Amino acid sequence: MTSANPHSTRPATAAALIRRRIGKPPTLAFILGSGFQRALEGFEPEVTIPYREIPGFPSAGVSGHAGRLLAGKWHGERLLVLSGRAHYYEGHSMDEVTFPVRALAQLGVLDLVLTNAAGAINRKYRAGDFMLFTDHLNLMGANPLRGPMMEGWPRFVDLTATYDPRLRRLLKKAASKGKVRVREGVYAAVSGPSYETPAEIRAYARLGADAVGMSTVPEAIVARQCGLAVAAVSCITNLAAGLQRSGMSHTDVLNAAEKSRSQAARLLGGFVALHGKG
Ligand code: HPA
Repeated sequence: MTSANPHSTRPATAAALIRRRIGKPPTLAFILGSGFQRALEGFEPEVTIPYREIPGFPSAGVSGHAGRLLAGKWHGERLLVLSGRAHYYEGHSMDEVTFPVRALAQLGVLDLVLTNAAGAINRKYRAGDFMLFTDHLNLMGANPLRGPMMEGWPRFVDLTATYDPRLRRLLKKAASKGKVRVREGVYAAVSGPSYETPAEIRAYARLGADAVGMSTVPEAIVARQCGLAVAAVSCITNLAAGLQRSGMSHTDVLNAAEKSRSQAARLLGGFVALHGKG
């Protein structure tokens, strides 16, 4: 598959296949990015579908990204998990990167939690912290809604309150119950794949960013266009360029996220349990 055109019926086609395989779709979904792949401790999916079997789903090519849709129950609630994501920096178009979100919306998902690894810009943050998005800066140089008008969807999407206060409250409650340190801040999305320069990080700090990463914002924008409630969580895996003594490496990012795995499990598991009660 080379291009996922959201203007075609393909998200509905993907949704139809998923529905055939999993039955009645859950209303809650997670997209798990770098470092969150193994965070769902004790989750035993009833159905696993590799992305390559779903029409329109792009391959998720980075180590740490498996590329499978999982459906099952965790902490008593049914949920859909997209384990692994495609990134803009891999050469996928914005349409391809956000296609799975459109498929989830077609399926009837209402609440979407996006996760990723990020570097800390805020000097109070430490590796191992988690950050709930309060807002974002889209510095990717592209917007996933660019293109011909899509019938049935708003052209000019309101991003005044992109990240849903109800979902954020549940995540904060889960963090406090699970004794997981969460921050709340602004995520700057860059296209990557090079890491930032120290000068860029100083500039982003002045713009109001607390953390930086290479994903998530396109998905959040499309999810808002589709009317989903969105939350997003970063695992802070490193201090951003110029703020730590060592240089940057993807292996270090994955190792740091792995260290935070049990905390991520408490945060997300606690959230799912609370969400099921709500
Ligand atoms: N910069 C960009 N993306 C990242 C970082 C970073 O420092 N850490 C994890 N993902």
